[in-house]
Amino acid sequence: PDAPAPVIVAIDGPSGTGKSSTSRAVAAKLGLSYLDTGAQYRAITWWMLNHGIDVRDAAAVAAAADRPEILSGTDPADPTITVDGADASGPIRTQEVTDAVSAVSAVPEVRARITELQRAIAASAPTGIVVEGRDIGTTVLPDADLKIFLTASPEARAARRGGELKSRDGGRVDLDATREALLKRDAADSTRKTSPLKKAEDAVEVDTTELTLEQVVECVVTLIEEKQQAR
Ligand code: DC
Repeated sequence: PDAPAPVIVAIDGPSGTGKSSTSRAVAAKLGLSYLDTGAQYRAITWWMLNHGIDVRDAAAVAAAADRPEILSGTDPADPTITVDGADASGPIRTQEVTDAVSAVSAVPEVRARITELQRAIAASAPTGIVVEGRDIGTTVLPDADLKIFLTASPEARAARRGGELKSRDGGRVDLDATREALLKRDAADSTRKTSPLKKAEDAVEVDTTELTLEQVVECVVTLIEEKQQAR
């Protein structure tokens, strides 16, 4: 028999809802590729900062949007990202990049460039792909087989993000400051003109506040298997 058609899964939602952990685990479990689109926006932001481009100057950011070469590895066990051949996986997680990424990702030329990369990667995934981001179900892959929109209370999101920062930096984390920064970034991402963070009409919303990672993964895997059986 023919191999089953590749399955395309879009997982969107604000920061700290468990998008990355969920998407990676689901992809690994089902033998699918994985793409972290936030990492791509962080990578182009890192390049802008390295090249002395004022990230608040939208015209300067737009003019440079096509210059960096950004390559994403799609193995859920080892998602890599390089910019002009250099490993960017560490530097894209710095506070400097996190603070600048909303401004850069609001520029339409940046979104057009990155969206094109995302569609090419999704189209070439042999068994299918789990793509996580903010506008995957609404804009990048509107024909995805399954769209998930993850939410969680601000407190749960701040606690998770704080936990990540703590394990990465090893130091003390100010949870109130983490919460404020996270809400500020989500507000910027949700109110920008070009493809803001938004639940697609046909997305399944999953509130992860009271769920463990394993429960969320189980829920998404079940939804994917139901879709596959229906095809
Ligand atoms: O998921 P993350 O925190 O690594 O994403 C970083 C930023 O990138 C986020 O604040 C907004 C932007 N982003 C976006 O605009 N569209 C996406 N599909 C993914 C991320």
